[in-house]
Amino acid sequence: MALLPILSYPDPRLRTIAKPVKEVTAEIKTLIKDMIETMYDAQGIGLAASQVDQHLQLIVIDLSENKDSPRVFINPKVTPLVEEKQPYEEGCLSVPEVYDSVERPNKVRIEALDENGEKIDEEVEGLLAVCIQHEMDHLNGVIFVDYLSRLKQTRARDKVRKVLKIREKQEAAEAQPQAATNV
Ligand code: NI
Repeated sequence: MALLPILSYPDPRLRTIAKPVKEVTAEIKTLIKDMIETMYDAQGIGLAASQVDQHLQLIVIDLSENKDSPRVFINPKVTPLVEEKQPYEEGCLSVPEVYDSVERPNKVRIEALDENGEKIDEEVEGLLAVCIQHEMDHLNGVIFVDYLSRLKQTRARDKVRKVLKIREKQEAAEAQPQAATNV
């Protein structure tokens, strides 16, 4: 298993439209495992393949408290079951440390295949409904900040740039040889 680098907003590769998975091959299964590991490592609750620069219709989600119940959605189709939209505070591993309210229908039908190629056909609501719509957007090249004002999008870009710089510095510091006091 391996951790995959996550693309950050506004990387243009995040705008790529994902293609359907033709067959759940060994390669796809490895990608799924790596995506789940990457999601846990980044402390996310969902990850779309688009975010790791693999432009396939593939989503992993884990809403469980113990992070031990990952769900896999291959070639998902999501249909809203209610017209009314509700606000929910969203964040995204590709837009680190930016959170804002997005309105979406909070009840949807999900049709997809799981990691074993078994059919999924479920009506879901609440967080899973919000999360799957957020991830579906990724497969279509859409990022949650697209729903926000221009000003907020500019702020999000600035924030991501700052966060990435800080992370780079931290990584560089961690790569330094151990201080003598650590002996
Ligand atoms: Ni996201």
